[in-house]
Amino acid sequence: MMNRILLFMILAFVLSLSEVEPISFKITNRCRNTIWPGLLSGANSAPLPTTGFRLSRGKSKTVAIPASWSGRLWARTLCSQDRSSGSFVCLTGDCGSGKVECTGSGAKPPATLAEFTLNGTGGLDFYDVSLVDGYNLPMLILPKKIVLGGCGATGCLVDLNGACPRDLKLVARGKGNGVACRSACEAFGDPRYCCSDAYATPDTCQPSVYSLFFKHACPRAYSYAYDDKTSTYTCATGADYFIIFCPPPYTSEKLLGSRKDGATLPLVNKSMIHLRHPHSS
Ligand SMILES: *[C@@H]1O[C@H](CO)[C@@H](O)[C@H](O)[C@H]1NC(C)=O
Ligand SMILES: *[C@@H]1O[C@H](CO)[C@@H](O)[C@H](O)[C@H]1NC(C)=O
Repeated sequence: MMNRILLFMILAFVLSLSEVEPISFKITNRCRNTIWPGLLSGANSAPLPTTGFRLSRGKSKTVAIPASWSGRLWARTLCSQDRSSGSFVCLTGDCGSGKVECTGSGAKPPATLAEFTLNGTGGLDFYDVSLVDGYNLPMLILPKKIVLGGCGATGCLVDLNGACPRDLKLVARGKGNGVACRSACEAFGDPRYCCSDAYATPDTCQPSVYSLFFKHACPRAYSYAYDDKTSTYTCATGADYFIIFCPPPYTSEKLLGSRKDGATLPLVNKSMIHLRHPHSS
């Protein structure tokens, strides 16, 4: 009797596995320097095989993702082992774990975020690149599948660290002209910029000169909390995704120009051409 129950449980488990095929994220580093991607699963999502790893320049890593996952992904930069404490720390995107794995914690802002809800409402994947918590690196999300009027490429392809307004710029000693660009919400804590308190609705929270700086440079990325209309992308569930850090902006744009993804805004704003990224190859 016991054996039969056990057999049934094993069978049910195997069936449940075959029912939900995982998809994959292929994460690529096209930046000049090593980056340390971090992954954070949402509250009700299954854990991933990795929550953080080192990715050298030019390298890619493919991570299996449950088809019904939600969570976010970012990259840490300028990381090192602290000599006295032995703790692993990063100047941008640090997840506070003290290790290369992020073990359940997210990025300290400012960091460019890729946000995913796979197999969400209506059996669709929802994804976006968000600058709501600031910016640290250019990033591109590219669904592998090409579907007419869907599965659009999104991201922020230009360098905003050098161009970042002075009040938002995060600088680090000996690291050149800025390592990240803060959001106005983080920099000033004003409810107007944070879309909080009296400004917690789409009608009351308006774009600011600061959010418009991000939006003009990266028209498809989220620039403030209620920027949903032009910043959320969808694809049929089951797609695999490429996530590329520091994609070469103009080759990407040419490659993507032929994709009829139905997006209303360009991926790169040609009049912001001077913001070419120094990290890109
Ligand atoms: C998507 O979610 C539904 C339940 O909400 C589930 O039945 C279905 O198997 C899921 N599809 C995939 C591909 O995981
Ligand atoms: C491109 O940048 C210019 C100059 O900042 C801005 O006026 C324009 O609205 C931007 N275009 C888009 C599509 O964001």
